Amino acid sequence: MIQVFKKLNRYFNNIEIILGRLRLLSGPQDAQIEPTNRCNQRCIMCPRTDKLDVPIGDLSFDDFKKILNKLPTIRNLQLNGLGEPLLNSQLPEMISYASSKGISVSINSNCALINQSLAEKLINSGLRLLKISMDSSDPEVYRVIRGASIERTLEGIKILVKKRKEKKANLPRIWFNSIIMKQNYKEMPDILRLAENLEIDFIRFKPVDIFDLYQDRDLLVEQNELKKTITKTLELTKNTNVKHNLNELLEDFNVYYRPKEKIPCYSPWRELYIQYYGGVRLCCEFYSRKDDIGNILEEDFQKIWNGSRMRGIRKEFKKGNTFFPVCQSCNRFQKNVWMYKKIKRFNPCYSLN
Ligand SMILES: C[S@@+](CC[C@H](N)C(=O)[O-])C[C@H]1O[C@@H](n2cnc3c(N)ncnc32)[C@H](O)[C@@H]1O
Ligand code: SF4
Ligand code: SF4
Repeated sequence: MIQVFKKLNRYFNNIEIILGRLRLLSGPQDAQIEPTNRCNQRCIMCPRTDKLDVPIGDLSFDDFKKILNKLPTIRNLQLNGLGEPLLNSQLPEMISYASSKGISVSINSNCALINQSLAEKLINSGLRLLKISMDSSDPEVYRVIRGASIERTLEGIKILVKKRKEKKANLPRIWFNSIIMKQNYKEMPDILRLAENLEIDFIRFKPVDIFDLYQDRDLLVEQNELKKTITKTLELTKNTNVKHNLNELLEDFNVYYRPKEKIPCYSPWRELYIQYYGGVRLCCEFYSRKDDIGNILEEDFQKIWNGSRMRGIRKEFKKGNTFFPVCQSCNRFQKNVWMYKKIKRFNPCYSLN
């Protein structure tokens, strides 16, 4: 019954996106909730490291339940934000609670904290997808990028993969999430080989998003150079057993680097990002408290979801004005491209404008 309700909501939500409605009858399909913004690493490309302007804190299990109970339409929940989710000791309980409500839960983690007991709890929790940040297979480069040792992360991954095998469990699916930047782009074949050795299910490479933040850190790879390296990586690893997104990345390359065709952003219609203190933002790209649209722990949810601020944002996005500074350089396009292609197939003349 819960699933039917969520599926119907998704259907209506997609229709409301196509229609470009400002006040929605449907609720969000996806959410990202931050169990903590504490972190055990200091990555050179991450806004968490030097730009976060929010006090540091954890989400309590009680507040987590309050938030989820206000979001009955959610189908997919990503349980991490700007911070390391495994630092919140109640994370496995949160995953179990959300799973019991028919929600598919994923987390993104650096996996440095995984030990036998945590691996057991995560596998039993109902977690569907664990995306492991792995930006290098070289200990030195890993340290330059993440300010931490690769050893603990490799150990955590091995414990988890072994336990999943011992328990003959299919879940969680285990992915690598590899952010590609100047410091590591030549390592793509090595990262693929590491994934193969560690029996990882899928590897997703994503060009670094520098927002308006770290222009001075020289992270972005020149686009032709990256294109050539992706093509070479495909040749070098054509016999790999690991599934990856390199072909899609080449296909959508222009979207990442120089959008020929402007892809609309559907975030204000279909998802929300919620911080440990209840602050609601459009998506995970925002890192400043001034970007909060409301507080889900303090306000009625409809006042946020269909309030004047959100309606104003949808109106601007409909006109193609992604007026927030982070939106100008955002390359968080996967969901948008996927949705855009689907709608275009259905209606070739489609435009949100
Ligand atoms: C913000 S982290 C939070 C979860 C966890 N601490 C981790 O590192 O996996 C989520 C993902 O965002 C990625 N990320 C951080 N900075 C990024 C950037 N500038 N562009 C693209 N992805 C980035 C990380 O590598 C990680 O895979
Ligand atoms: S990418 Fe993850 S581990 Fe690295 S600083 Fe950001 S939140 Fe922490
Ligand atoms: S354009 Fe990017 S940063 Fe802006 S709301 Fe959409 S996904 Fe978020």
